[in-house]
Amino acid sequence: MNDTARQLRFGVVGIGARSQLATHADDSGPGSAVVAVCDPAAAQRQAGVERFPAAKAYADHRDLLDLDLDGVFLTTPDHLHAGPAIDFLSAGVAVFVEKPLAITTADCDRVLETARATGARLYVGHNMRHMPVVQAMRSLITDGAIGDVKAIWCRHFVGHGGDFYFKDWHADRTKTTGLLLQKGAHDIDVMHWLAGGYTRRATGMGGLVLYGDNPDRMDRTGQRLRDFYDPEHNWPPAAQRGLAPVLDVEDPSMANLALDNGVFLTYQQCHFTPDYWRNYTVIGTHGRLENFGDSPGGVVKVWNARRSDYRADADLEVPIPEAEGSHSGADPRLVAEFVRFVRDGGTTLTSPVAAREAVAAGCAATDSLRHGSMPVDVPPLDPDLIAYFNRGQVR
Ligand SMILES: NC(=O)c1ccc[n+]([C@@H]2O[C@H](COP(=O)([O-])OP(=O)(O)OC[C@H]3O[C@@H](n4cnc5c(N)ncnc54)[C@H](O)[C@@H]3O)[C@@H](O)[C@H]2O)c1
Repeated sequence: MNDTARQLRFGVVGIGARSQLATHADDSGPGSAVVAVCDPAAAQRQAGVERFPAAKAYADHRDLLDLDLDGVFLTTPDHLHAGPAIDFLSAGVAVFVEKPLAITTADCDRVLETARATGARLYVGHNMRHMPVVQAMRSLITDGAIGDVKAIWCRHFVGHGGDFYFKDWHADRTKTTGLLLQKGAHDIDVMHWLAGGYTRRATGMGGLVLYGDNPDRMDRTGQRLRDFYDPEHNWPPAAQRGLAPVLDVEDPSMANLALDNGVFLTYQQCHFTPDYWRNYTVIGTHGRLENFGDSPGGVVKVWNARRSDYRADADLEVPIPEAEGSHSGADPRLVAEFVRFVRDGGTTLTSPVAAREAVAAGCAATDSLRHGSMPVDVPPLDPDLIAYFNRGQVR
């Protein structure tokens, strides 16, 4: 059987909410199938074998190392990305790591170094690069609609913040570093991509201003998002019940980021807004663009013809295209790219180097936020590592 016809064998480690992603790699045809699932929780292992009928279940990811897998999806909590990633790469298994790549810059660098040392393929699940709204903004920029990008501002309204991030491991600094990194890694990566540069200096500000005062706490060991996500209730945010016993991450946080190419970014994140979406404004040397809505049905508006007071009617309006699948169609495309990369290699829209730089910026901004907003420099990445990943992970 030639390699294009061979069925790829995948494992999934961490059978929680996000493991759903791997269903896109489980077509059970000649393409690829999930043959192993792993979770320390028995109920999740059971859920795993129900979701992936060809899979055997394991409690420890090290039991998957000698199964001759072609690749593995790591959908574990954030602090459990780097260690298993290094184990699988060292065993020669291609790795899909969910974002963020790790919760410290040093751990990101260890993962990248292991990938280069072993030659095993590394892919980071920054699905927003596959989102139609992001691709529409990037196309406008690369087509020259606003000239050279000089500043980007992103406001992130995390409407389901209380349910998603303050009832389990997400609320615990030791498992995420903080939400400026946990959630922000997505938007920092998008802004880096739109700006064509990486953060070198960060300042941050923020605090725990709403959920920290809520005395209603619950140890939710054994529960998963489906057990506590309730989009119809829990409003206003102070009505939330059963928040995490360890809750020490910020609920609004802001970062100012200076990039290596002279572009400046601002990122603002709040976890108790009524609505849930992201708004980007990108300002260039001859125009400005902004998205209104971030999914199909929304629009990206461009003002670039003249100066004026506020004009709702932009000079150009690009509808956000329809797409099938979760996260506005980004998830099936993300997995298709990973499967193609495992089979054929080459370059990808997502980037391990960019994933590291998003974590590094989020860590620096969080450090600043927690130390009087002092400026924090991002440590540079080894240029040889950058070159290795830029040429498609070929040694
Ligand atoms: N890209 C996106 O849009 C997106 C969306 C949601 C979550 N995520 C990321 O996906 C990851 C998983 O998030 P989630 O919401 O599914 O979390 P979750 O808590 O629902 O699931 C995590 C699972 O990992 C299991 N686990 C814990 N320790 C483990 C270990 N040592 N080995 C194997 N499994 C272990 C848990 O038992 C749990 O079932 C996180 O890194 C998160 O940041 C990304």
